[in-house]
Amino acid sequence: MAILEIKKFNEPVLRKKCEKVKKVDEEIKKLIVDMAQTMKEEQGIGLAAPQVGVSKRVIVVQTDLEGRRILALVNPKIIKKSQEKEKDEEGCLSFPGIFLEIKRAKEVEVEGLDIKREKIKLKAKGLLARVFQHEIDHLDGVLFIDRISFWQRLKIRKKLQQRDPAA
Ligand code: CO
Repeated sequence: MAILEIKKFNEPVLRKKCEKVKKVDEEIKKLIVDMAQTMKEEQGIGLAAPQVGVSKRVIVVQTDLEGRRILALVNPKIIKKSQEKEKDEEGCLSFPGIFLEIKRAKEVEVEGLDIKREKIKLKAKGLLARVFQHEIDHLDGVLFIDRISFWQRLKIRKKLQQRDPAA
């Protein structure tokens, strides 16, 4: 097991569309274990592979409030989304200290492969639905700052630049 380095907002890997995983092999399993450990260490509730520099369609999410249950999904897909949306505050491990109000579908249905290569399908609502949408966005190179208004984005960019002039 290893704690991986989290890629921050200005790293190109976060903007790439990730490749589909062809086989859940030992390498992918190791990646999942390391991502789960990294997420715990960083106290996140979701993490996508590009955030640790791997451009593959793998996510890990915490599925309970206590943080004991972690679910990994390979090639996850949102197959259903509720019309009803909800606005709530979101953070991202690649944007430390930035919290944004983002509108997302209230409920989603997600499918993918688990670590045992079994196909799973699940329904999520509220925070968990939000985490799935946020992490699956990462796999398409979409970041939560893309889901706010232009003016809000300018403000955030300024804030980030003060911290890191290369941003
Ligand atoms: Co994120």
